[in-house]
Amino acid sequence: MDERLWSAAAAVLTGNDAGGWTRAAPQLYPHQWSWDSAFVAVGWAHLSVPRALTELRSLFAGQWANGMVPHIVYDPAAPAEAYFPDAARWGTGVAAAAPDRPTSGICQPPVHALALAHIAEVADRARGTAGRPGVPNSGAAGPAGARGDVEAVDAALTELYPKVLAWHRYLATERDPQGSGLVSIYHPWESGTDNSPRFDAALARVEVGDLPPYRRRDTGHVADPAQRPSDTEYDRYLWLVELLRRAGYADDRIAATHPFVLKDVLFSAILVAANDALGRIAARIGAPAADRAAIAGWRDRGRAAVDACWDPRLRLCLDQDVRAATPVRCRTVAGFAGLVAGGDRRSELVAELTSPRFAGDPRMRWPVPPSTSPADPAFRPRTYWRGPSWPVLGWLLWRSLGEHPAAAALRAASLEQVRTAGFAEYVEPFTGEPLGSPDQSWTAAVTLDWLAAG
Ligand code: DGY
Repeated sequence: MDERLWSAAAAVLTGNDAGGWTRAAPQLYPHQWSWDSAFVAVGWAHLSVPRALTELRSLFAGQWANGMVPHIVYDPAAPAEAYFPDAARWGTGVAAAAPDRPTSGICQPPVHALALAHIAEVADRARGTAGRPGVPNSGAAGPAGARGDVEAVDAALTELYPKVLAWHRYLATERDPQGSGLVSIYHPWESGTDNSPRFDAALARVEVGDLPPYRRRDTGHVADPAQRPSDTEYDRYLWLVELLRRAGYADDRIAATHPFVLKDVLFSAILVAANDALGRIAARIGAPAADRAAIAGWRDRGRAAVDACWDPRLRLCLDQDVRAATPVRCRTVAGFAGLVAGGDRRSELVAELTSPRFAGDPRMRWPVPPSTSPADPAFRPRTYWRGPSWPVLGWLLWRSLGEHPAAAALRAASLEQVRTAGFAEYVEPFTGEPLGSPDQSWTAAVTLDWLAAG
């Protein structure tokens, strides 16, 4: 165990702890982001099981009545100018379930059930090993503490299970009225991979109308604005927000009229993995058989649909652009969705992941997956999701690889990367330069999990 790296990662989480929830980053992202928060809970589990559970509870306090978990739950104490778009820009008051928790009006990939199942596993493991030296989160509070953690987990599972189920049901129905197994997104921000070339063609078709004026805040928090999405992209992002707001966040209206609708293959794959985890949780708490059948049905339907997105030429799974009725042909990390969903393309996808088109490019400082393949014409090594490697995505793929030998190599390379680049949001893949925000919570969180797995 690398104690120094462990303490440094723990210090990032405690430094970003806002008291029951964690800022995604100290300056750039001063609120609670949905998928960040789930990854962060994975890390917190190794420091404090109750704190990890609180992270998810705080996030779900912002859940909407229709089941949607919004992508940002705003800190009501932060000034409006702390982040743009601020809560008022979304105008979500009517749709939101808890008006005291201002939220955005879109969502992000559903990592939450994975986090919840992970916290339960950490607590179970610590109980089995309470007091054993060298085992993270073991015996810190003694055997009684470990027993208390399992009790806290059982209580939290019972409390959070219906909320997570409602979230998955929303995605499986409102976001997939066709029952295709693939989730529709209405905004690149919903993918979590905002300016990925995946969205270039669909975004280019969005005609910006009468956009209320705005001032970006994000570019002021990075060393070079070129590390962030462009102003042209931001205009379109904000126009899509405006359209969603005018549609009253009503899914049926949006599905019928919105100019940007994509079946997001990575989002859909994460939902498959999350349904797998939710199924285990449902069994543990003795949930009704009808729930368990629904969850298994969503999982199987999603897995088959992600596999069907396989493109034999690019050797990746591709998003489907609903408005253009075409697959999105580009090489990005989202193409490994089939690994995350656990379908039939595993060996082909591992071969592609380690090939010179991705982690095996000889120019890579460390053999970790870049967000966009250097072989893709849209590759930009310093620009957000257009090339830099994101440790958190490396963690997701590592976890999906399970016992495959490629997993150990990916973990070792990722740990080398954080030892050198620190807990950066993303990293220039050839030089190893840290980019975006320093002290990004989810980078620290996945580092804790990688270390705990050693
Ligand atoms: C950002 O501000 O870059 C976020 O990804 C949008 O949620």
